[in-house]
Amino acid sequence: MRLEVDISGKTFSNAAGGSHEVLAPIRFALRSGEVGVLIGPSGCGKSTLLRVILGLDRDFAGHIARPPEARIGMVFQEPRLLPWRSVEQNVRLAAPDVSNARLSELFGILKLEAHRNHFPGELSLGLARRVALARAFAVEPDLLVLDEPLASLDDALASRLRDEIAALVASRPVMTLLVTHSLDDAIRLGDRLFLLSPRPAHIVQEVPIEVPRAHRDNAELVRIRAELAALRLEAN
Ligand SMILES: Nc1ncnc2c1ncn2[C@@H]1O[C@H](COP(=O)(O)OP(=O)(O)O)[C@@H](O)[C@H]1O
Ligand SMILES: [Mg+2]
Repeated sequence: MRLEVDISGKTFSNAAGGSHEVLAPIRFALRSGEVGVLIGPSGCGKSTLLRVILGLDRDFAGHIARPPEARIGMVFQEPRLLPWRSVEQNVRLAAPDVSNARLSELFGILKLEAHRNHFPGELSLGLARRVALARAFAVEPDLLVLDEPLASLDDALASRLRDEIAALVASRPVMTLLVTHSLDDAIRLGDRLFLLSPRPAHIVQEVPIEVPRAHRDNAELVRIRAELAALRLEAN
């Protein structure tokens, strides 16, 4: 499967008749098995770009080619759970085919077992984010889109979930797009980093990470980080 993004622009208009250019021309493609990471300043248009790619916002100039049969797993910046459904029901509604065993496994990994029957209003933001991740994983997605999924989680949990995302990506051919502010997430998970400009967003630089994820030990991560720091300095 392949995702092709070819946006020539996107503008928001306001009621006063003003307009607000959010996306400049952006072109890239992503294959199954690849993790693309979007890194850019706050407000540059990352979440807007994801909504356009998912087909949730069709008011843009350009074209997105998404395989029509692709199952989509999505974690929005706000967890967006159905408030009148329990944690378990929220996941099952999105993923009706999920097996009991897989559900238990996901709830175990995400430390949600004790919260199966809780309602979203009873959850902290960190917990709600974990439910959103469980829901996205349970779908067994072909296209996984994650908008700052590990923000506001403590370091230990964020690191465990990062490993879980890596395991999911290794276990089946999924196209992944991850928005993050964390260079650690980017260099542990990414195959290609897209460095975005301030609004209107365009890709300033694409940085490939050639070393396979499984071989990125600490020494390798330090090396990649230094390489990236040098690149970003040049870009400025
Ligand atoms: N529905 C909307 N209507 C008008 N402006 C919007 C809307 N959604 C986002 N914006 C504006 O578009 C810009 C990019 O927002 P967003 O994509 O959320 O940025 P990011 O995710 O990179 O922080 C911001 O200036 C934001 O205020
Ligand atoms: Mg955003």
